[in-house]
Amino acid sequence: MAERAAAVAGAAALPVAKLGRDQAAAELARLAAEIARHDRLYYVEDAPEISDAEYDRLWRRNADIEACFADLRRPDSPGLRVGAPPSEAFAKVTHGRPMLSLGNAFEAADVREFFQRVRRFLGLAEDAPVALVGEPKIDGLSATARYERGRFVLGATRGDGRVGEDITANLRTVRDLPLLLAGADVPDVLEVRGEVYMMSGDFLALNAEREAAGEPVFANPRNAGAGSLRQLDSRVTARRKLHFFAYAWGEVSAPFAGAYWEALERFQRWGFCVNPLARRCAGVDEALALYDEIAARRSELPYEIDGVVYKVDRLDWQDRLGMVSRAPRWAIAFKFPAERAETRLREIAIQVGRTGALTPVAKLDPVEVGGVTVSRASLHNEDEIARKDIREGDTVVIQRAGDVIPQVIEVVRARRPKGAKRYPFPRICPECGSAAVREEDEVVRRCTGGLICPAQAVERLRHFVGREAFDIEGLGERQIAAFWRDGLIKEPADIFTLRMRNGTFDPPIEERDGWGEKSAENLFNAIDARRHIELDRFIYALGIRQVGQTTARLLARNYGTLAAWHAAMKAAGDRDSSAYADLVNIDAIGPKVAEDILAFFAEPHNCAVIDGLGDAGVEAEKFAAPEGASPLAGKTVVFTGALDAMTRAEAKARAEALGAKVAGSVSRNTDFVVVGSDAGSKARKARDLGVRTLGEAEWLALAGGVDGSGRGT
Ligand code: IVH
Repeated sequence: MAERAAAVAGAAALPVAKLGRDQAAAELARLAAEIARHDRLYYVEDAPEISDAEYDRLWRRNADIEACFADLRRPDSPGLRVGAPPSEAFAKVTHGRPMLSLGNAFEAADVREFFQRVRRFLGLAEDAPVALVGEPKIDGLSATARYERGRFVLGATRGDGRVGEDITANLRTVRDLPLLLAGADVPDVLEVRGEVYMMSGDFLALNAEREAAGEPVFANPRNAGAGSLRQLDSRVTARRKLHFFAYAWGEVSAPFAGAYWEALERFQRWGFCVNPLARRCAGVDEALALYDEIAARRSELPYEIDGVVYKVDRLDWQDRLGMVSRAPRWAIAFKFPAERAETRLREIAIQVGRTGALTPVAKLDPVEVGGVTVSRASLHNEDEIARKDIREGDTVVIQRAGDVIPQVIEVVRARRPKGAKRYPFPRICPECGSAAVREEDEVVRRCTGGLICPAQAVERLRHFVGREAFDIEGLGERQIAAFWRDGLIKEPADIFTLRMRNGTFDPPIEERDGWGEKSAENLFNAIDARRHIELDRFIYALGIRQVGQTTARLLARNYGTLAAWHAAMKAAGDRDSSAYADLVNIDAIGPKVAEDILAFFAEPHNCAVIDGLGDAGVEAEKFAAPEGASPLAGKTVVFTGALDAMTRAEAKARAEALGAKVAGSVSRNTDFVVVGSDAGSKARKARDLGVRTLGEAEWLALAGGVDGSGRGT
């Protein structure tokens, strides 16, 4: 035994050909640890201890041993860092907890308002201290890395926040992402989230290389990073020198911190890079000072940042604050001011959207703003053009902030060409010639052509297949526009009969430009995969005015099935019906949104679209209550009076996170009325109707037993 240990101990000195099996295993373990340590010194701490040549020697020895003892390759082998052979496509990954985005602040006042909102929600005094952590907002791509028993097992992109793509092989090549976590306190399951980014210097070098090779260059480090991370061939990713800052987490098997600041310390200890400019701030003034400090250092940073993110430090408060739509209530991004440039406005073009809205767009002489070439900018609407008196031929100031569409800020009057005329906003639709009208108190002018308007038809289809809607792989905006133009797809149901009708097309899809046997078959399979779809996506896909993802989810939750919803909406056409009362009684759906929904159902063609989808074999899944179903799941709850333990906003948010529907008034459909102090007529009505009422203690027992915060980033 002692002999064997001695042999293993001496293995480091032996040439590869002389190694026995045990010695090889010991050597691979030693090299993995050694290389990981030097990676950390080099990539993270910027303090290498050995020369590149010595480092290469370690690598080569590792590769040589692995070549002789392939079955001994370790899951944390440095060899895996160089990437794996290309895969065909990225598999989908459903995030156990959604990956969130952030609300924005553009001025200091917005940050102050954020503090107040947090206090109001938590029911704290106006001057109660709320500690935050502030840190740079990295202009990269968010990714999540899953560890099981400390071992990196899965990497994914954010995708739409609910479903991303499996980029395990690519993320493994990111050198400052640890493959094996150090420490006994690492939870068994740990999903660490953060930003993948490319250093500005590496970006410039990459572009220079591409230019020399006659390849297209990337517009900015962010695009280069995205392009590199989404490589099917991870060996390409491996050469691109990407980096990772950890700043959030998803699923974890056990809590590991009480405050965000503490979590960052843990991350660092486990081997992740945490942004060195992150700081804990006791209050809003300190937070704003940190912003100034980071802004002042922005130009010297080796990577791009586009603002400062603030996060409430206490995690129990984060839990209570939860999220709204796709963003946490406990965090906000204070963006740096947008970059501006001057250029000439060549022409005002009109785009017709899916709801018939005529949107003016400025076509510009291409100009660089913050590293991106801009040739189009939004003009919003008719009134905006009149107010700013924007004319064709004008020199204009444009602004680009983050990834939002560039805007025209103002006209440089002194440079207006002689004879430039006020812009006459069209009164007829440029796409179909129908009248374009403006309703009272509306800023948009809309085409009245409905479905005879080609622009509207195409835009509706684009929306239908969009990422948040049916999200059909291989059927993007470009393909939809082409299929529509050639008459293959006229309405949503046609998508689902494509395979069946393909034989009747001339040419069939596989013979069209840009298509082949394989891609056509992939498309048909991708379409088949979407014949079963979540009800909220289905509702969202219909493109009803004012029904965004949040409202679609609310409707799905309230009505449960497509059939129930469809029947109820038809019945609600009668404004005196109980179906109508139920609809407007859904908290957050007011009469205005209800009118848009009912207008949609009043149009027979729209009902035909829904029926057509059913006939083509599309089934919307029954809306499922969130996991770990609570006694509140699927129940309708009304709050009345004041609660001591939480504000009304928090109570509502908690109920919704537990799968309940919150209604504004009491009816026979109400399951519980939560009665606080000073409750009025609603409590009485509940008793009259025999609806169960809950006191505050009972409510807390129901709502407090489960972690209903909906936390997750
Ligand atoms: S926190 C808690 N922290 O910004 C919600 N995001 O605009 C998760 N980002 O999708 C985000 N730096 O890709 C957070 N320090 C930082 C960030 C950061 C960059 C990105 C992230 C997110 C986007 C939202």
